[in-house]
Amino acid sequence: MRRATRSRGGALVAAALVLSGACCLVLAGDAKSPKQTASTTGPKPSVSEQATVDVAASTLEQARQALARDAWRRELRFAEAVDPGRSLRSTRISQQEIDQGRWTVEELFAVGGRVFDATFTIADGLGDGGGLLRVHRGERGGPDAFGCRDCHFRGGPAGSGDASANAYLTGDGATQRSALSRNPPSLAGAGLVELLAAEMSRELQAIRTRLAEQASRSGESARGKLTALGVEFGWLTVGADGRLDAKEVEGVDADLVLRPFGRKGRFATLRETIEEKLRIHHGMQTTRLAASGDPARVGAHRRPDPDGDGIVDEIVEGQLTALTTFVALQEMPTVEPPQGGLVPVTMWAEGRRRFESLGCASCHTVSLRLERPTLSLPSREADAALKLDLSRDGRGPRLQLQTADESYRVFLHSDLKRHDMGPALAESRDEAGIPRGQFITPPLWGLSRSGPWLHDGRAPTIEDAILLHGGEAQASRDRFAALSEKERASLRVYLTSLTRARRLVAP
Ligand code: HEC
Ligand code: HEC
Repeated sequence: MRRATRSRGGALVAAALVLSGACCLVLAGDAKSPKQTASTTGPKPSVSEQATVDVAASTLEQARQALARDAWRRELRFAEAVDPGRSLRSTRISQQEIDQGRWTVEELFAVGGRVFDATFTIADGLGDGGGLLRVHRGERGGPDAFGCRDCHFRGGPAGSGDASANAYLTGDGATQRSALSRNPPSLAGAGLVELLAAEMSRELQAIRTRLAEQASRSGESARGKLTALGVEFGWLTVGADGRLDAKEVEGVDADLVLRPFGRKGRFATLRETIEEKLRIHHGMQTTRLAASGDPARVGAHRRPDPDGDGIVDEIVEGQLTALTTFVALQEMPTVEPPQGGLVPVTMWAEGRRRFESLGCASCHTVSLRLERPTLSLPSREADAALKLDLSRDGRGPRLQLQTADESYRVFLHSDLKRHDMGPALAESRDEAGIPRGQFITPPLWGLSRSGPWLHDGRAPTIEDAILLHGGEAQASRDRFAALSEKERASLRVYLTSLTRARRLVAP
């Protein structure tokens, strides 16, 4: 068995593992002197080696669960053969019951997982009666796939998608060039992204309120710096007449609401993102959208069946809540430095430092601090909200409380701001008022399992993704390009350690 020396690198590794809430596999080592390999030969087992035995047991347990799940899915296929549509129908749960607290979070996660894994059919309401449409037709969308898993599968459950799973948004229904080409991002940690964005929006709005009070008290305009969870969003001025001047606001909309979802940062909540995804990728309309959506988006046939496929209530509100719960409770990605086999851990530590010195961290903010782990999913039908505890609910690894300061550190590697990335990455047109060259800083957590990279998946390697940075990131990119090959390698090693916990899945 090999042990890491108590070098600076070692200490950093320990810190990264503990802080990131890394999974059992990597935490198996004694945190003060991390064990590098799970070798079976060597001296008498120490406490940390016994932990390795537990890991082995849990790996076996994982294998057992994966096989049991596979067997269960086979049974479900038989049941589906007898009674087509049975599985998706069983997810049509009532929002009222959710609002009354009659569903546990665990049950909702399970129901939502079935919607995520479902194959939507014409009998369920897929599309509007026609076939698939690879390139979307304006705001109406595709459909371009039969289920969420068709695109979000790479690198683990609810993962990213290959370049061939790209979606071609708001095109002319025929030619690829007319559309905005987008690669499916990984959904791991999505609940935390919503929680962080909501917290930051709250902080920014509190500053706005303070400035408004100050302006009204003093009778003079008030200008203040916008900072949320340590991230700066420029300046806001409130005139003596209470009017807002958002000219100096940066990286967020003038209403100070962070919208972290979609590559351009279009949606604030998972619920609205997913409602939109169901509609554009599958033509599965929620009852609510079918009743009140803009005809350009949902179709111009008579309500309550605006897409005119003869199916109403394609997705009921309870199903949307369950699916949202499932996505929100995906695991948190981890930081897993090399274990000393082929690559020394000191190289990782060097890359970690370089990530700061090159200026990557000025946008890819390494960690953000949360006080509370609770994500609230408000009901749209009643004055009720589903509370998800991201330190306890859902798939692990999860958020972990730092005993040192009683808070939670999220190793997101993003400031959740929009940045201009220059002409080479810019798209052919703006989207919903967001300039063509602007994208939201993608969280780099889970990076090594979420390729290909960049908004349209044009980068087959992480290094390509870095070299394609321009605009606001030009200086940082140039500093990277000027490094020696060995120095660049250390940064690549660091970025490769941003990953997801190992887990066994049956396909
Ligand atoms: C055809 C491929 C495809 C299918 C099918 C698909 N997605 Fe996506 N998904 C994408 C793409 C591409 C994006 C990025 C969209 C953008 O940039 O606006 C995305 C983004 C998302 C996001 C926002 C993530 C983020 O961090 O920005 C969520 C959440 C999501 N999808 C959930 C789902 C769910 C749930 C389903 C099934 C109902 C689904 N998707 C089906 C391709 C797909
Ligand atoms: C000015 C802000 C900014 C700086 C500085 C910056 N980035 Fe980025 N980064 C972004 C944005 C925005 C994107 C998304 C661009 C796109 O999708 O076209 C991105 C994308 C990436 C991606 C691809 C992620 C994915 O999931 O597709 C990687 C990897 C990355 N950056 C690494 C780095 C590294 C390493 C550095 C430092 C050398 C760096 N970035 C500096 C803003 C920045």
